[in-house]
Amino acid sequence: MRQKIVAGNWKMNNGKGETKNLITELQEEIKDLTLDNTRVIIAPSFINLESAVTQTEDTKIEVVAQNMHQAKNGAYTGEVSADMLKSVGIRTVIIGHSERRAIFKESDEILAEKVNAALANGLEVIFCFGEKLEERKTDNHLLEVGSQLRNSILHIAAEDWSKVILAYEPVWAIGTGETASPEQAQEMHAFIRNVIAKKYTQEIADNLSILYGGSVKPANAKEIFSKPDVDGGLIGGASLKAVDFSSIIKAI
Ligand code: 13P
Repeated sequence: MRQKIVAGNWKMNNGKGETKNLITELQEEIKDLTLDNTRVIIAPSFINLESAVTQTEDTKIEVVAQNMHQAKNGAYTGEVSADMLKSVGIRTVIIGHSERRAIFKESDEILAEKVNAALANGLEVIFCFGEKLEERKTDNHLLEVGSQLRNSILHIAAEDWSKVILAYEPVWAIGTGETASPEQAQEMHAFIRNVIAKKYTQEIADNLSILYGGSVKPANAKEIFSKPDVDGGLIGGASLKAVDFSSIIKAI
């Protein structure tokens, strides 16, 4: 079923103590909220996942991973597998973040393998994608997003869509302070939902949560979340402060 979701991607921030403190502060901020059909998610670094899972037991906060490797196990120095994530209580993984694509050269093909491996292992996937500034400027943003979806996720079985959340993150809006306008976000989210409806069914498309990410702040969250096809946000910088993140959660 379509859910509202506010997810904080902590990226490569926060050591052990900072992770613990931020979770404590966030929990304090949101503990009295009624979160009907709304999920609150945080994605700390790999090294803090297990302690974060333990700390958030019996709270409204879910802990997810920022990435995983597609292989089951073996000689992949420095990598983490789906089984390893599951062994510390992780149920959901982010795949395809633009930083993984741009900095770590993860191609559409690799991302398709990661999506397959995550789903085959029973993990839920938060799949990220989005156009670059040049593609937006030349009015190719819909084409580019369509192609990223086609190349990495539109091959999955219909029943697997209940284990997928999509996150549209225009690269030009990530960490730049420049946000897509609510109208730009709505246009893209409606386009994405239509792509899914055409390839699968209207019901699958209607049940899918599509998040917006890119410079979401307390000041702009409400307006973006008010759009009918925007089901929540994937938040970077503003998720690192409990007060800001909780105020974004309150805006949903
Ligand atoms: P910012 O909110 O810092 O722009 O980051 C967005 C993001 O990349 C979330 O995954």
